[in-house]
Amino acid sequence: MANKTLGLDSNLYQYFQQVSVREVDILKALREETQKYPTARMQIAPEQGQFMALLVQLMKAKKTLDIGVFTGYSALVVALALPSDGQVIACDVDEKMTQIAQQFWQKAGVSHKINLQLAPALETLDHLIAQGENNTFDFAFIDADKSNNNNYYEKALWLVKPGGLIAIDNVLWGGKVADPDIKDNRTEKIRNFNQKLHQDPRIALSIVPIADGLTLALKK
Ligand SMILES: C[S@@+](CC[C@H](N)C(=O)[O-])C[C@H]1O[C@@H](n2cnc3c(N)ncnc32)[C@H](O)[C@@H]1O
Repeated sequence: MANKTLGLDSNLYQYFQQVSVREVDILKALREETQKYPTARMQIAPEQGQFMALLVQLMKAKKTLDIGVFTGYSALVVALALPSDGQVIACDVDEKMTQIAQQFWQKAGVSHKINLQLAPALETLDHLIAQGENNTFDFAFIDADKSNNNNYYEKALWLVKPGGLIAIDNVLWGGKVADPDIKDNRTEKIRNFNQKLHQDPRIALSIVPIADGLTLALKK
């Protein structure tokens, strides 16, 4: 028994995956395809995708944002969990990798739920705000250029409804955030961002130590 979060050695991590992860074939195939690329480690872990899908189901979400698409795993796992009239606005700048995403969304039969916006995500979010989409999204996942986390968060706070959820990836940053000797710009920005959210009265907060750390911010 432990009353603090367990560190997972590789045996326990393997067991945890064995008894938790139910990755469907299309997601497995996308993971395998992504492994062919040197940037494969940008893809979210299967247990994290499954957790996000469960949250989306629990909230009965319909309208969602995916900020940082890459080969499309997070958008796909969420789209599969949405009802048939659900919607993902997916933001990325990488035409090549998002072509893979689109192929897999098509194969999975969820393309009609995903609207890919190939532009800097801040522009897409500003455009949605200008169109009066404030307070209309149920769920937003932030997983793009980490230096912009604070900007994405502030815009997502406009766009999600009260009671809507913003999830932010990589907030534990491979452990670097806890090492005071590491002072590079990105690590400092993630540290400052985590501190800010800890004090932010506009949200209810929990950081879940799954994968590389996932912040959950529920808009009050
Ligand atoms: C960590 S990956 C996303 C992983 C994805 N969520 C998944 O489940 O596989 C980050 C993505 O953010 C994109 N990105 C970086 N800067 C961006 C920007 N300014 N606007 C939109 N997307 C950006 C990159 O092209 C990359 O595909």
